[in-house]
Amino acid sequence: MTTALALTNLEASAGGRQILNGINLEIPFGEVHAVMGPNGSGKSTLCHVLSGKTGYEITGSARLDGDELLALAVHDRARLGLIQCFQYPTEIPGLRLREFMLEAASELGIENGAARIVEAAEQFDMTRFLDRSVNDDLSGGEKKRSEIFQMAVLSPKVALLDEVDSGLDIDAVREVAAAVDEMRSPEVGVLMITHYSRILRFVIPDRVHVLIEGKIVASGGPELADTLEAGGYERLRAELGLQAAEEQKAPAPDPFSELPFEG
Ligand SMILES: Nc1ncnc2c1ncn2[C@@H]1O[C@H](COP(=O)(O)OP(=O)(O)OP(=O)(O)O)[C@@H](O)[C@H]1O
Ligand SMILES: [Mg+2]
Repeated sequence: MTTALALTNLEASAGGRQILNGINLEIPFGEVHAVMGPNGSGKSTLCHVLSGKTGYEITGSARLDGDELLALAVHDRARLGLIQCFQYPTEIPGLRLREFMLEAASELGIENGAARIVEAAEQFDMTRFLDRSVNDDLSGGEKKRSEIFQMAVLSPKVALLDEVDSGLDIDAVREVAAAVDEMRSPEVGVLMITHYSRILRFVIPDRVHVLIEGKIVASGGPELADTLEAGGYERLRAELGLQAAEEQKAPAPDPFSELPFEG
């Protein structure tokens, strides 16, 4: 079986700042991989770089079902079967959700687009939003549900879910998780970014990866999410010796031998 998404030594910088520091990751078709990491560790940047957002200097390789993504334009990556559910979905006043989805489905050569849209809208309680502008004046939770609805219609090969559970109420987390779980199939690989192990109780990931400072520092089974929940990133950093490395870079002054006003 081929790999849905294969990242090799993926590095990215923006504004003179190195954000991704050599990411290696393989998501086989049929698997859901969770990526967790502290704020600012590069999770959204990873999604943006894979989707084709401009403004980054990028090296390395990212293959979707064997095809190199990094040299392609955003729409060509989407045509290959990549979809990103955004952490902060954009409002597009003037563009109705139904038209947007019809256009996208037709571009991707999806048969029975109109019927699929109606069916998925019913499933995700999106029917009343179909003839409103995309995301315009939707609540945070409704926007996230809309992202999942769009993904269900477009049946991607690789889905990048950036905090699809943030801002959702307890029932909505369960619903969104059920939708992601339903998507599981031998035809799709899912990269699911989350801060909370809550959603991972409903969508059991095949692997959990921890991203710190733009690098995957630990990978494991679903139990890794529970370990993180219990001890936080600080304990993991300490266990991996990451703190020691930082301390070496900038040794703390010894308060007993270095007097601040001397010399
Ligand atoms: N265009 C840019 N120019 C400079 N710095 C950037 C740029 N884009 C992102 N960054 C920085 O890169 C770091 C990683 O950002 P990113 O949004 O990927 O983090 P994240 O892991 O998704 O965090 P969160 O959990 O808060 O969503 C942050 O410190 C951010 O400020
Ligand atoms: Mg983010």
